[in-house]
Amino acid sequence: MKATTASGGSLELGSAHAIVTGGSSGIGLATARLLAGRGAKVSLIARGKERLEAAAKEVGAAARVADVADRAAVTRAVAELEQEQGRPCDVLVASAGLARPGHFLELQDDVFRQMIDVDYFGTLHALRAVVPGMVERGQGSVVAVSSAAGLIGIYGYSAYGPAKFAVRGLMESLRAELTPRGLHVGVVFPPDVDTPQLAEENRWKPPETRAIGGTIAPIPAERVAEAIMVGIDRRRFLICPDIGTWALARFGSVLMPLLNRAFDRRVRKAREADDNA
Ligand SMILES: NC(=O)c1ccc[n+]([C@@H]2O[C@H](COP(=O)([O-])OP(=O)(O)OC[C@H]3O[C@@H](n4cnc5c(N)ncnc54)[C@H](OP(=O)(O)O)[C@@H]3O)[C@@H](O)[C@H]2O)c1
Repeated sequence: MKATTASGGSLELGSAHAIVTGGSSGIGLATARLLAGRGAKVSLIARGKERLEAAAKEVGAAARVADVADRAAVTRAVAELEQEQGRPCDVLVASAGLARPGHFLELQDDVFRQMIDVDYFGTLHALRAVVPGMVERGQGSVVAVSSAAGLIGIYGYSAYGPAKFAVRGLMESLRAELTPRGLHVGVVFPPDVDTPQLAEENRWKPPETRAIGGTIAPIPAERVAEAIMVGIDRRRFLICPDIGTWALARFGSVLMPLLNRAFDRRVRKAREADDNA
C-alpha cells in the first residue's frame, strides 16, 4: 500500500529508504522487520555494535553505530547510510530511547540530563539530519516514539516523563510546520511494551510506580510496530497501539482528575503496604 502525501505525491515503501534509530532492539527492531517485509531499504542506528550487527543481519539492513545524543555522530551516520543505500532517507522512525524511573528525591542530576539528552535530543538530532532533504523533495515520513508517560505525569517518572513530553511537543509543532510541505509527521504513545527496556526499567521502579501499572500486561513490540506501519500508510499523527493510550491522548485533560484520584489511591495503598512491611 502507498502512503499518499498531502501534496498528492506518494511514498512507495517498496522503493523507500527507512532509517530506524534504536533499530537493534524492541520496538525499533520490530518496526525494522515490518519495513523490510514491505520491501523498504532499511538502515539501523544504535550504540551496541554486536546487537546492532545481529539485527542488521536478520533484517537485511545497513547499520551504523552512533549515540543519538551526539549530534555530529547522528548526522554522520545518516549521511553514510544514505550513501550506502544509494537513496536519501524517506522514512525516519526515531525509536532510540531509555527510561529510568525513581523517586524525585533519590534520582541523581545526571539521570535528568541523560533522559533529555537521549530521549529528546536524540530524537531531535535524527530529525534535524533528515528533515531538510525531505522538505526539499516535498515528501517523507517522520515518526517519533514518545510514551504514555509523555501524556500524563506519572509517579516515579520525573526524569523520563518530561523528556517524552518534549518529544510530543516537538512533533506537534513539526506536524503543523511540515504537513503543508508534503511530509507525514507522527508520534507514537506506547503503554508498557515487553522489551529489554521495560525489563531494565522494572529494576528501578518504585513500588508506587509499580502499583499504578497494576496488573496490566505489557503489549508485544510487534503490536507497536504494526501501529507505526498503519500510521505511516495512513499518514496519522497520533499513533496509539492500544485503546488506553488512545483515550489518554484524546481525552487526557478531561480524564486527568479521575486518573489522578485512582493513581493517588494506588500510591497510598503501596505506601501503606511498605510501611507495614
Ligand atoms: N518498552 C516500553 O514499555 C516503552 C513504553 C513507552 C515508550 N517506549 C519508548 O520506545 C522506544 C524504544 O524502546 P524499547 O522498549 O524498544 O527499548 P529497547 O528494546 O531497549 O531498545 C532501545 C533501542 O534504542 C537504542 N538506544 C538506546 N540509547 C541509545 C543511544 N543513546 N543512542 C543510540 N541508540 C540508543 C538501543 O540500542 P543500544 O543500547 O545498543 O544503543 C536499542 O536499539 C524508546 O524511546 C522508549 O522510551 C518504550
